[in-house]
Amino acid sequence: MMHQVEELVSRAMDVQVNAYAPYTKFMVGAAVLTKPGSIYIGCNVQGADNDDTHAEEAALCAMVAAGERHPILVVAVGALEGCAPTIIPPCGKCRQKLMEWSSLNKYDIEILLSTGIAQLSDLLPNSFGPADIGIDLAQHST
Ligand code: THU
Ligand code: ZN
Repeated sequence: MMHQVEELVSRAMDVQVNAYAPYTKFMVGAAVLTKPGSIYIGCNVQGADNDDTHAEEAALCAMVAAGERHPILVVAVGALEGCAPTIIPPCGKCRQKLMEWSSLNKYDIEILLSTGIAQLSDLLPNSFGPADIGIDLAQHST
């Protein structure tokens, strides 16, 4: 697990430099490890519409596009353009996006914080999920 955490941090750092953040200049890179051991990466992409794609969202979309649905560990790093990135906590929107996969797969997801590894359920307690709209995702789990 430890070398996988380091690998995720390294991959998140690598992609962070590709972030497109001309508005706030805050560049984020994220890496997601899946149950089969694949790593998916993403960076934030801003726009004049002010509807940013967040790095964690982008990484999750890359995972789904590749045909995978089982994220187990997530790392995000960020910094103002030109500065050295550090580990950042996923924002509320990204916690919600991650919770979708936790709901689908019925297991908690681990998030690397600067203080260590945290559980998604502790970062987003009492979350709104499929059950709250009467949906059972069982048939979508592979
Ligand atoms: N950002 C992310 O990509 N992920 C997060 O969870 C935190 C925030 C981005 C959004 C925005 O493009 C920039 O960081 C902050 O200005
Ligand atoms: Zn976010």
